[in-house]
Amino acid sequence: MSSHTNILVVGSGGREHAIAVALSKNPQTRIFAVMNRMNPGIAECAYKVLIAPETNPEIIKQFCLEHEIRFACIGPEAPLEAGVVDVLIKEGVQCVGPSKLAARIETDKAFCRNLMKKYHIPGLPEYHIFQSGTDAESFLKSATKEYAIKPSGLTGGKGVRIMGEHLTHDEACRYVHELTGTVVIEERLTGEEFTLQAFVDGTHLIPMPLVQDHKRAYEGDVGPNTGGMGSYTLPDHRFPFVTQEDYDKAFAIMKQTVASLAAEGTPYVGILYGQFMNTAHGPMVIEFNARFGDPEAMNVLSLLISDFTTIVQAITTGRLDTTTVTFANKATVCKYLVPEGYPDNPISGGKLIARQNHRALCYYASVIRDGEFLITQSSRTMAFVGIGDTLEEAEQIAEEAASAVSGPVRHRRDIGTRAVLEKRISHMKEIR
Ligand code: AMP
Ligand code: GLY
Repeated sequence: MSSHTNILVVGSGGREHAIAVALSKNPQTRIFAVMNRMNPGIAECAYKVLIAPETNPEIIKQFCLEHEIRFACIGPEAPLEAGVVDVLIKEGVQCVGPSKLAARIETDKAFCRNLMKKYHIPGLPEYHIFQSGTDAESFLKSATKEYAIKPSGLTGGKGVRIMGEHLTHDEACRYVHELTGTVVIEERLTGEEFTLQAFVDGTHLIPMPLVQDHKRAYEGDVGPNTGGMGSYTLPDHRFPFVTQEDYDKAFAIMKQTVASLAAEGTPYVGILYGQFMNTAHGPMVIEFNARFGDPEAMNVLSLLISDFTTIVQAITTGRLDTTTVTFANKATVCKYLVPEGYPDNPISGGKLIARQNHRALCYYASVIRDGEFLITQSSRTMAFVGIGDTLEEAEQIAEEAASAVSGPVRHRRDIGTRAVLEKRISHMKEIR
């Protein structure tokens, strides 16, 4: 018997690189990786890599059997929806990641809203579900409020359109016809967004530091939505625009959601990501994700002091209640470099020169290494995380590293700046 703990990481982005780095801190852990394309950072951490579709349960199962892999961390949502966890669990591979049915909390927005309603979970906005564009349009025609329009299924965070932000009333009436499948139309919420992620073992939850992501492509929060351009955390793991009461409500909502999934016979095991809008009346649920956020994983995992392999084992054996998890009381700022033209017309094949930077952590995403160069692909390229005693320090470290990369990429310089934080705080004061 090998004295190693073999753990599989599925996924090929910055989030999965951060997962692999966190696992690799334990010398007993041997990392195996299945990824759609070669992520140079994950490859460096891994003992063995398989380039294969992340959504093919059979191929992933064979890889686990061949290498006596006992645990798996599923990074992205697509493998969850494809039932990878259901197949691996049958083979005795313990998974950080919910079953296909429990993952519907993310993969099926109509399911999520109906579950919250059935179990009287607070933080549920007014919502309506439509099976056809015609029905959705006739609802919108007579609507007097502004709504968020969401395809019910997975869209990589890019299918959501908000009236008053991306769409006029007339455009909304047309947009619903462009969508196929179930459409969820919900009340437009205003406030400040924050992310609360938790480790979940089916019953118990352990919260991670609060993170704020920046979805919009350009500085000043304008432009199209992206997968996330960067994110930050503060040393106390909270935000000045989220009161203790708001925080307690948000965490209670997460706990009730986990309890309701257990009551439905589909217990939730993995990482639960709650995206909240902190409104004048407290936190409302924008959505749940059934995994770490990307970039948010890079913030929290860079702060993790406890052994991640131990946490993986506790999550998959229902022992989080007897596990202590600690995070460093530092600020983090994560800035993503993205190809020029991202997200609408990303330039792939761009050559980058990244100088060594020993102050920032570097996580690779959609990028190929070619000798001394890095080559951009069509998605987010790579991220730098600065860690510091203050937000300013963390921001400076991340900014310095991000701006030292030369080539056809850009990043948002405003992420993690004090000015942006002050704006959030005054916005919250205004609406309360
Ligand atoms: P989602 O894919 O559900 O996270 O939505 C993407 C983005 O759309 C979120 O980060 C929010 O900024 C925005 N959004 C989603 N739902 C709403 C809502 N009900 N009201 C206002 N903004 C929303
Ligand atoms: N950063 C948002 C997400 O991972 O969905």
